[in-house]
Amino acid sequence: MLHALMRGISPEMARCELTFLDRANINTALAERQHEAYRQRLEDLGISVTVIPADPLLEDAPFVEDTAIVLDELAVITHPGAASRRAETTAVAEVLSRFRPLKRIEPPATLEGGDVMRIDRQLFIGLSSRTNREGIEQLQSLIAPYGYHVIPVPVTGCLHLKTGGTWLGSDTWIVNRRWIDTTPLRGYRLLDVAPDEPWAANTLNLRNTLFLPASSPQTRMMLDRLGYNTAIMEISELQKAEAGLTCMSLIFEGAVRG
Ligand code: GLY
Repeated sequence: MLHALMRGISPEMARCELTFLDRANINTALAERQHEAYRQRLEDLGISVTVIPADPLLEDAPFVEDTAIVLDELAVITHPGAASRRAETTAVAEVLSRFRPLKRIEPPATLEGGDVMRIDRQLFIGLSSRTNREGIEQLQSLIAPYGYHVIPVPVTGCLHLKTGGTWLGSDTWIVNRRWIDTTPLRGYRLLDVAPDEPWAANTLNLRNTLFLPASSPQTRMMLDRLGYNTAIMEISELQKAEAGLTCMSLIFEGAVRG
């Protein structure tokens, strides 16, 4: 069974953290509708969705991906680089503990899940304003016993690694080279987002469908021509909070532990 963990939209989302965008008005009612449509899309794919209620004081909590790395054998609860986001991990850890044994990133290490792109036993990890070298090293030592290893990727122009690049399966990534340094991805085929569609590098690959943000029509056409089965989700209001498609859920296989 595929599970997704999400978290409701805070009425104070407009006060969210920002790293590379200027603050824009956020229509929270519209953000809620887009978030609900996302939840519905996951359910339509047969995914069992758990939504942790919103906490008005945790403006960035809907970006639940940043709070944990869920692997087959364990879940690692992160220590977010944004101090305002650290309290988000409590409710997420409570839910994940039903599915996986937990380990934790401890300060001074910082790590956010938006910086982690897993490809089998390799984890590409953004070295970003939210994830530091200690965070990458701590994660490596927690997961090395299970055969995983990490590869740092400098994030140069955006919030997280996955804001600027995601793996499409097989040997291919889609990237925005203005936002990440792709040097560590050598050996992969790199597809570039359309020049006017910087957000298109954050894709969500679920059940043989590659979801892109609705703001990516040119990139979508390019991927369709290459044979990908694409679909879109509208997240314009959430993008004002620097959110991508991946960050609104933690998706993992598994059953409740006995
Ligand atoms: N607003 C998303 C973040 O900064 O974490």
